[in-house]
Amino acid sequence: MRTIIKNGTVVTTSENYKADILVENETIVAIEAKTSASADLVIDAAGKLVFPGAIDVHTHFDMPFGGTVTADDFTTGTIAAAAGGTTCIIDYALQTPGKSLEDALQVWHARAEGKCAIDYGFHVAVTDLNDAVLNEIPGLIEKGYPSFKVFMAYKGVFQVDDATLLRVLKKSGEAGGLVLVHAENGDVIDVLTKEMLANGQTSPLYHALSRPPQAEEEAVNRYITMAALAGAPAYIVHLSDSSALGLVAEARLQGMPIYAETCPQYLFLALDRYNEPDFGGAKYVMSPPLREAGNNDFLWSGLDSGNLQVVASDHCSFNLKNQKELGRDDFTKIPNGAPGVETRVQLLFAGGVLENRISINKFVDLVSTAPARLFGLYPQKGTIAVGSEADLVVFDPEAPFTISAKTHHQNVDYNPYEGFTGRGVPVKVMSRGTVVIDDGRYVGKAGHGRFQTRKPFNAL
Ligand code: URP
Ligand code: ZN
Ligand code: ZN
Repeated sequence: MRTIIKNGTVVTTSENYKADILVENETIVAIEAKTSASADLVIDAAGKLVFPGAIDVHTHFDMPFGGTVTADDFTTGTIAAAAGGTTCIIDYALQTPGKSLEDALQVWHARAEGKCAIDYGFHVAVTDLNDAVLNEIPGLIEKGYPSFKVFMAYKGVFQVDDATLLRVLKKSGEAGGLVLVHAENGDVIDVLTKEMLANGQTSPLYHALSRPPQAEEEAVNRYITMAALAGAPAYIVHLSDSSALGLVAEARLQGMPIYAETCPQYLFLALDRYNEPDFGGAKYVMSPPLREAGNNDFLWSGLDSGNLQVVASDHCSFNLKNQKELGRDDFTKIPNGAPGVETRVQLLFAGGVLENRISINKFVDLVSTAPARLFGLYPQKGTIAVGSEADLVVFDPEAPFTISAKTHHQNVDYNPYEGFTGRGVPVKVMSRGTVVIDDGRYVGKAGHGRFQTRKPFNAL
């Protein structure tokens, strides 16, 4: 099968140029100013941008959490991702305490197998460390799982102690892996939470107030210190707070291989959302929580300056009805997380590029190239080049959009960005040479998505 994408403007991290892209089966085989080749399918991209398929390195599909299971599974989650211009996701396989990391991977493979509309991979979350578990790490890196996650929060559930942090960082660092952290001080949060509940402060706002910026700052500081002690590269997921960002910037200035991602929710939403009436604040119960309004600008600057390298979604969807509602009388019972896999790319384009906060090349880097490089998928993914896989997005930068739960593909009954308007729509999305989104409609097949083994960590 030969496909030509004609007359588009190709955008990468370093260039924007008019070209025709020739795809043979799954691979880009030529990029020419004007091709004379013939093809089975010709896509006219005149007036459109063509960028590498976006990569979302932080999703939670089909995940049991907070006494329930996420609303999106690998079928609905990956269709929604594709509709938003994402062609590869990396989800988290969570270790069950007492079991091995291999066991976690088996469980998550079974959940994803045959369901995915786009390619996928797994990070492995370590929740219960012993020598045998620690010794699994080098073998897993060799098998194509080079990234591990640890939680400094969710006391009594996923939280690990400092010894675990240090041991995992050391082992992973020695073997060519990258350790990802949820950086919030779970013990501090536990004390504040108990105080609030004892005072009858049970509404969604107290979720945020029980997790102040200092809890994140302290954990980021501790984690960076551990990474320095271990001599290992380290990555902070869903960084939300300006002071925590300052710590990352300082470490990077000293030459430390510290990386961090933020998410659209921390760029576009703020603390006032927790005051929405009728338990509406529950839509935004996620960890870390939304911060004061002025914080967003610091994160945008962090993206522009390079101190934040990745924008991921942390898609973790729970319906308001019957799921978030579990915590109507007690914010600690609201399952943590929010949807966003479908809206990440459009929000960053409309709110970032069109609002002159970041360049279009930086946008491509944040949503595609940097995640591909940090997580061992480059150059087969994350760029448009001869020999790369044909994961491509034909994007109409002028087309208007309005975000709504009524029209999204995500299998959840609300959208945190309900009513947001902007410009920039992925009109066609190609996954390894196959069109999976055509004029906004999903036309792919479940099971097209292929599991991706990944290369060991390579510093940016
Ligand atoms: O609230 C969130 N972020 N839920 C998903 C799990 C996590 O901490 O990433
Ligand atoms: Zn987290
Ligand atoms: Zn997460």
